[in-house]
Amino acid sequence: MAAQHPRQSSPPARLAVLVSGSGTNLQALLDAVEARGAEAYGARVVAVGSDREGVEGLRRAERAGIPTFVRRLRDYPDRAAWDRALAEATAAHAPDLVVSAGFMKVVGAEFLARFGGRFVNTHPALLPSFPGAHGVRDALAYGAKVTGCTVHFVDDGVDTGPVIAQSAVDVLEGDDESALHERIKDAERRLLVDVVGRLARDGYSIEGRKVRLGHERARHQ
Ligand code: GRF
Repeated sequence: MAAQHPRQSSPPARLAVLVSGSGTNLQALLDAVEARGAEAYGARVVAVGSDREGVEGLRRAERAGIPTFVRRLRDYPDRAAWDRALAEATAAHAPDLVVSAGFMKVVGAEFLARFGGRFVNTHPALLPSFPGAHGVRDALAYGAKVTGCTVHFVDDGVDTGPVIAQSAVDVLEGDDESALHERIKDAERRLLVDVVGRLARDGYSIEGRKVRLGHERARHQ
């Protein structure tokens, strides 16, 4: 039985974006909404959350006039309490979709109970190859000739959820981690903007590991 997530009845969809660092993927989403207009793009960013204070991703949100929140793991007695606090802070903005864009923490049961099936992550490798925090470094060390990025729904594993879309990037002779990551992030930003817009505008279904976006979903019904 497929979990159906039909197109929002009153677009644009509300996006909450979680970041831990520079936030260039967040910026790509903000730029897409700004350039195309929230109605045409199908979504707008209503909140940006982080597990760290003072990161550039939060400053990008502030500059765009978007509310932010920070929930640091170290401020809670245990991981479950932090996870609950993160889930509550996110839920307070009533998002239709939550996007993990360079958010470097694994969320827990409470967060997934609230946002499972509408929590999207971007990962800088072609999953299931090179999951985890060092996807670019690991692909380089392995000697892969092609790597890339994956936008996927988050489940209770580390980078194991159903794949929505992927984009390939060649590894070039002489690449170091930073040069390769920059080229991957270029592809990643384009892919994320495209995927989030399509999820929001067209709806989607998740059946086991198979994600179908709007037009593909219609063909399979
Ligand atoms: C992205 O490559 C993301 O996949 C990885 O960290 C990077 C975040 O970049 N987990 P930014 O903060 O969006 O610039």
